[in-house]
Amino acid sequence: MSHDATERAGAAPALTITDVAPRDGLQNQAVAISTDAKVELIRLLARAGVRSVEATSFVSPKAVPQMADASDVVQRVSRQHPALRLSTLVPNLKGLERAHAAGAAEIAVVLSATETMNQRNINMGLAAATAVSEQTLLRAAELGLRTRAYVAVAFECPFEGVVNADTVLDLACRMLEAGAGEIVIADTIGAAAPAAVKARMSMLAQAIAPDMLAVHLHDTRGLGVANAWAALEAGVRRFDASVGGIGGCPFAPGAAGNLATEDLVLMAEQCGLTTGISLDELLDAVEFAESLLGRQLGGRSSAWLRRRRERQRAAA
Ligand code: HMG
Ligand code: MG
Repeated sequence: MSHDATERAGAAPALTITDVAPRDGLQNQAVAISTDAKVELIRLLARAGVRSVEATSFVSPKAVPQMADASDVVQRVSRQHPALRLSTLVPNLKGLERAHAAGAAEIAVVLSATETMNQRNINMGLAAATAVSEQTLLRAAELGLRTRAYVAVAFECPFEGVVNADTVLDLACRMLEAGAGEIVIADTIGAAAPAAVKARMSMLAQAIAPDMLAVHLHDTRGLGVANAWAALEAGVRRFDASVGGIGGCPFAPGAAGNLATEDLVLMAEQCGLTTGISLDELLDAVEFAESLLGRQLGGRSSAWLRRRRERQRAAA
């Protein structure tokens, strides 16, 4: 019988991966996804060895109807997988209070690096979004919750173009000062290239301890894995990724899917870096997501991974 790999013995992985498919991957899907299906997707991720999941978001159900069942998701998943690190996105204090009431142990605030992206995403400008994120982090600390802080459009904004590195550093430092446990640098529209990722993440790694710095990549231009490698070279060991490569912010035009978890895990595996995640079992989660969304999914490695699995099964 399969079991959560959170319970598997063994050394800590070299890379820590947070699978954001249940939130980033599902938030913008055209078909309604049931709570049962979300819980099952998370079960399959946990079974594959994923130790950290962004399960949902406590945002306005008018803005993102797909996340209206956030409380149910958190309650059910926390009960079923007590060892799983379960994060939830909250845009403001109301989201935090809802997350806390549902029993969430970790929240992520979402601050974008430009005026317009904050307006489009959370209906407030940069100064207000920074202040609200700070207040939310401080209140989360009072409530004893773990915290992450996204700095979105950290390379390029769909409305304002290339984003200055100093702005990203300044916002990241403000979030750290407000108590964020992890800073998540996000390439929201997948516009970054490896040279820029290496330069920007190296600069940030001077100011932020490696175990508090993560990167969240979208794979719009097919550079997701290369960008992950560049981040690794800059010293980053914490990555967001999404099983099947699903994802994208509904309020950021041109945002395509996230870097696929299976692509990141395969790259790590082939480079001798552990993740604690089984690629074969991850494919079960990809296939389940395909059944939900009614179309073929998967990162760029999926076809090869499926062939390898067939060969291995035939040989067994
Ligand atoms: P607003 O309309 O400005 O909010 O929306 P408001 O404070 O004026 O309140 C309006 C109504 O919303 C009120 O209800 C509030 O109670 C309610 P009413 O009195 O009309 O019945 N409300 C809420 N309800 C539930 N949960 C809440 C909440 N807050 C207020 N937390 C708001 C502001 C932030 C709520 C809205 O703009 C929103 O929910 N936006 C959604 C943003 C979102 O989910 N974006 C996608 C995720 S971010 C992303 O994908 C990027 C990321 O992946 C990183 C990357 O790739 O870059 C993280
Ligand atoms: Mg995203």
